[in-house]
Amino acid sequence: MSRVVVFGTGPIAELAHFYLTHDSPHDVVGFTVDEDYMREPTFRELPVVPFETLEDTHAAGDVSLFLPISFKQMNHVRADRVATAKAKGYELISYVSTYATTFPGFACGENCFILEDNTIQPFVQVGSDVILWSGNHIGHHSIIEDHVMVTSQVVISGGCTIEPHCFLGVNATIRDETVIGRETLVGAGVTILHDTEPYSVYKAKDAQPAGFRSDQIRAISHKSGG
Ligand SMILES: CC(C)(COP(=O)(O)OP(=O)(O)OC[C@H]1O[C@@H](n2cnc3c(N)ncnc32)[C@H](O)[C@@H]1OP(=O)(O)O)[C@@H](O)C(=O)NCCC(=O)NCCS
Repeated sequence: MSRVVVFGTGPIAELAHFYLTHDSPHDVVGFTVDEDYMREPTFRELPVVPFETLEDTHAAGDVSLFLPISFKQMNHVRADRVATAKAKGYELISYVSTYATTFPGFACGENCFILEDNTIQPFVQVGSDVILWSGNHIGHHSIIEDHVMVTSQVVISGGCTIEPHCFLGVNATIRDETVIGRETLVGAGVTILHDTEPYSVYKAKDAQPAGFRSDQIRAISHKSGG
């Protein structure tokens, strides 16, 4: 068990505290935020201290850090705080849900946040500072590099490479053996069939309203009872 300070006091930090408390050997002992974001001295009944002076109250030898920061600025905000934490000498933990499916030989780098119902097939490699929100399929022999956000219900088929700083939106689908170039933004519901250029953005077509009201619909189902 290690004593852990969590970065943030927003909903993701609150979730991290919940998951670490209920589903990990770690003991959350406090929270840290950028000084400009200091609002309350406590959160979840634990101390909140400025990140800039964290070492004054929580020395690197006494605690580990976990930085479950969002995908803001294509994961650069999180990567930046991770770099600062490491420069201060802190060890970073990773959380892999016991409700995720992994196989012998699976390992990930530091500061990964891997939630329930991810299916991570054999021979997948996951780098550092990767968030796999709930319910993704990560196909065999795929490589997810550092500082990546995979949201939910994303299908990464076998043998893909997801380069650093990518964002994969909900329900995105990546064809097998595809390289998603550095910092690609794959929007919600997008299907990618070919390698992507670095820094590219893919946006799905939005469904359009059918032009009649739901209380005027003749039948939802073709079969009786619809
Ligand atoms: C791809 C996606 C991001 C596009 O979003 P959108 O709102 O439909 O697209 P918009 O064209 O309105 O642009 C989005 C942003 O890019 C900016 N933008 C658009 N075109 C731009 C351009 N040519 N240059 C620079 N910025 C541009 C817009 O200003 C907007 O920023 P703002 O919100 O600060 O105003 C969105 O469809 C998507 O899939 N998001 C992921 C959703 C998701 O998976 N969420 C799960 C989170 S857990």
